Amino acid sequence: MDIEDRNRQLENDDRKYVWHPFTQMKDYVREKPLIIERGEGSFLWDIYGNKYIDGISSLWVTTHGHCKREIDEAIAEQLTKISHTTLLGLSHPPAIKLAQKLVSITPQGLNKVFYSESGSTAVEIALKMAFQYWHQNPDEPDEKNKFISLRNAYHGDTIGAVGVGGIDLFHKVYGPLLVDPIKVSSPHCYRCDLEKSYPSCNLECITQLEKIMRTHQHETAALIIEPLVQAAAGMLVSPPGFLKRTRELCTRYDILMLADEVAVGMGRTGKMFACEHEDVTPDILMMGKGLTGGYLPLSATMTTDKIYEAFLGKYEDFKTFFHGHTYTGNPLACSAALANLYIFERDGTLAKLGENITLLKEGLKRFWDLRHVGDIRQKGFMAGIELVLDRDSKAPFPTGRKTGIKVIMEARKRGLILRPLGDVIILMPHLNIGPRELHELINITYDSVKHVTEGTAFRETR
Ligand SMILES: Cc1ncc(COP(=O)(O)O)c(C=O)c1O
Repeated sequence: MDIEDRNRQLENDDRKYVWHPFTQMKDYVREKPLIIERGEGSFLWDIYGNKYIDGISSLWVTTHGHCKREIDEAIAEQLTKISHTTLLGLSHPPAIKLAQKLVSITPQGLNKVFYSESGSTAVEIALKMAFQYWHQNPDEPDEKNKFISLRNAYHGDTIGAVGVGGIDLFHKVYGPLLVDPIKVSSPHCYRCDLEKSYPSCNLECITQLEKIMRTHQHETAALIIEPLVQAAAGMLVSPPGFLKRTRELCTRYDILMLADEVAVGMGRTGKMFACEHEDVTPDILMMGKGLTGGYLPLSATMTTDKIYEAFLGKYEDFKTFFHGHTYTGNPLACSAALANLYIFERDGTLAKLGENITLLKEGLKRFWDLRHVGDIRQKGFMAGIELVLDRDSKAPFPTGRKTGIKVIMEARKRGLILRPLGDVIILMPHLNIGPRELHELINITYDSVKHVTEGTAFRETR
């Protein structure tokens, strides 16, 4: 079979057999699929050899870029020893070393590591842990059964995680299946649901949160929050102080704080974990995505000695945390994560990241020239550009116009892979992207937004 035939076959079989996530397949099968075959550094190549900048770190995971030699080698070395052994009652060196490392780099007090494979499962574990912690607490038996979660939140797609989600488009249909959390306003300053403006609002959303906590403290096990940025909702950046005040309230009302760092952890916000910006230690912290540098599925749910100890008891007391997946703490994935963290330290990735954060900030300023840009939100090295029909009224584009999708398809023609969240264009390249590629990424995004929203002529940019 020659290469053209092989490619056509792959395209046909993709349309025929693969059901793609978060994808309207009726539209998908009408188009020629983009099939990625190779990656290196900041770039991806499709099966025809076309080259693209990876503007979203392959869904927010490749911390140091594709094909990082040190991570390749760590996995290869582990392959010579063992690919999988269970953590259910046994252990292995990579899981032990990684747990020790994670304890040393997370906010002080998070001393225990529970592994799983995705952000969703890390959240699922946190919810169950928090619930069971109170259930086994002699002072509060069977009382604290509820969760507080934020509007616009996204914590993953498994049923528990969907239950504490707040994006109607993704979550509403599953309503009858879900836990029923107490929903509070999210600190979404561009479209505040309390109709206030920051900073004159004096964080009215926190005042509301306090009222809810005071009323429901007796029945609330935990509050779950994405620290600093509600990423999947379109990079909604919290105002300074919101996270710290939330922590204080959780402590005051004896409600556990679960910090979902799946999107914002691993350096994304400029510090290893977003909680560090406001000197916050949650009771439970979840991480995933970039943990293995974009190599293998691995996540971790970390907690304090106090919570861990509530699960200790005689065998027949059944205080055990009865949870664990077949591939929990897979040795290949743990080895990849260790190599990923080693690169952070060896290369001083976080110290250097400031330059890229500034370049991105500077590059985004020019987008204000485009009249359909309603808001630009950036925290560290993650950004969202919200496109609107009318900047003054903030009226969105009609959904059927698919503005966000058109922009990313335009960017694709120009050699850049992006993925929008509705009409918010997300920019999240890997942390070490070079200045030339970063400029090119910003320029292509600008030209694509302009082309789609202002009907300007296509201009070749590369
Ligand atoms: C904050 C947050 N939590 C959880 C998840 C779910 O992670 P996964 O897709 O690995 O299950 C995501 C995914 O985007 C996320 O952004």
